[in-house]
Amino acid sequence: MGTEPNLKINWPALPSAVRVEAEKIVTDLLRKTQDSELILESILSLGRSREKELADPVADGAVYTPYPVAEKLVNHTNLQAGQSVCDPAMGAGVFLIAAAEKRFHLGQSIESIAKQTAGADIDAVSVEVAKLSMQLWSWLRGTTGVSFDGLVCADPLINPPTNWVKSFDVIIGNPPFLSQLKSRTTRHKNRSQKLKQRYGKLATQYVDESALFLLASLDMVKKKGTICLIVPTSIFGAASARPIRERIDEVMPMTGLWVGGRDVFTDAKVDVLAPILSTEQKPLVHVYFQKSEMCPTEVKRENNGSWGAILADALGVPTLDAAIEKDLQREATVTADFRDAYYWLSERVEENGFQTHRKKIGKLATVGLIDPLTFKHGKKEVRFAKKKYSEPVVVAEHNPPNDFSEWLKRRRVPKILVATQTKVIECVVDEIGDLIPSTPLIIIQPMNPNNIWHLASALSSPVGAAWAASEAAGTGLGANTVRLRASQLNLFPLPATSPEWDRAADLAQSIQTQGGSEKTFRDFGLVINSAYGIEDDDLLQWWINRLP
Ligand SMILES: C[S@@+](CC[C@H](N)C(=O)[O-])C[C@H]1O[C@@H](n2cnc3c(N)ncnc32)[C@H](O)[C@@H]1O
Repeated sequence: MGTEPNLKINWPALPSAVRVEAEKIVTDLLRKTQDSELILESILSLGRSREKELADPVADGAVYTPYPVAEKLVNHTNLQAGQSVCDPAMGAGVFLIAAAEKRFHLGQSIESIAKQTAGADIDAVSVEVAKLSMQLWSWLRGTTGVSFDGLVCADPLINPPTNWVKSFDVIIGNPPFLSQLKSRTTRHKNRSQKLKQRYGKLATQYVDESALFLLASLDMVKKKGTICLIVPTSIFGAASARPIRERIDEVMPMTGLWVGGRDVFTDAKVDVLAPILSTEQKPLVHVYFQKSEMCPTEVKRENNGSWGAILADALGVPTLDAAIEKDLQREATVTADFRDAYYWLSERVEENGFQTHRKKIGKLATVGLIDPLTFKHGKKEVRFAKKKYSEPVVVAEHNPPNDFSEWLKRRRVPKILVATQTKVIECVVDEIGDLIPSTPLIIIQPMNPNNIWHLASALSSPVGAAWAASEAAGTGLGANTVRLRASQLNLFPLPATSPEWDRAADLAQSIQTQGGSEKTFRDFGLVINSAYGIEDDDLLQWWINRLP
């Protein structure tokens, strides 16, 4: 190169694909023949070229944000001319360009924007691509020769640049999502120790890296600043992120929420949100949806780390005003099985009627066979351990291993089986103990077996669905799915003893044994609602719409 005016670009450090594209942009800028919006597009595509070069962007937490999303979020932070902006995991700098554009169009000079722009990335090549993008952007907007010295190669979670303390008006970005529940993305032990040293108890073992970026941003943002980071929806409900949510609620609660959904990134299907944190004294959270058909709305927040409830409220889950007498754990034990149970069963499931020398123990129950108060065994084909079955049964050899026999003994009892990752709580009653549950079903064993239909009716109720949705919003695969854990179900709310609850228990039993229509479900919903002291048609209708 060399013909370009006064650019401070480290050409040898750039990947060849990026260099080739950048040279084309330089030519267009020199010739001044290309439309400026098209040149901006080309500058933004430098980041995409970098992303394509990474061996595994998802495992590196390096999935870049589409520019229109970055623009939208910059607008939600209400960034003003003259303010400073930082993206602590900037990649190729898409948010920094969106923020620079906004301030430029509000009248801030390019020299001042350059001084007020900071960013970091642990990948040195991405830092060079970000610097290149910002330089080309400033040339596009009429000024060359400015430096973007605020863009650095660093890990702000462990060693933030020293001049970043309480320095920025706006912190924005899309930090890496590194789930600690997947082997591909777990932290090295050494890193976990460093995080523990820095954040103490807040850096729990399973907390996603993105939640730590929210936490770290609290130290970098100015007293009256704003933080807006894209995070996976799962951190809104995850127990591992609760201490961080509580800390944030104490010092800089959520005043806005952008709900992105699952289609924000082309190469990674992950449900995302961006909480907008500020010290503004607003009791309400303003919610914006990426999907244009959903209208912005305002919801109340509690400031106690219950972000799932904010999301549930925003998604229209009815607020509960139910008469609650006690928790499920007072009436039943709630457990889930580990993978061992799956491995035992995977060797012991056969098609019913198959000639076998092994003894039939019971029917196999899987999540796919359970609908609300409906067990579809024999009515629906099911896959288990990579095989298809019409009527799967569990069999056991003459002398099965001890631990398997022990487990079986514990499971062949009257119980309620609850499916997870559903829109309402889907459960069935096993009165005689002949259903053998496979993971991840949750098993509820009533202390008094005579209560089994009462408990099933409460679990299957509209109140149960709304409770689960607000407890667990965000922990499932989509913002509208709840993934229940046994520990959460322990706290499931039960109504007081009443003739209405008795009647609801009878209706639940009749639905499961004789089949249910929309009318019978509606009748059941009405009666169990009145057992909870609720006369609210909205809750009933919301629940009916969610039934499968
Ligand atoms: C999801 S990408 C997003 C990049 C950019 N903010 C965007 O939205 O296009 C996250 C970036 O964080 C970087 N990263 C990962 N761990 C980091 C860390 N501990 N500190 C700084 N950057 C990190 C990755 O290299 C990647 O470029």
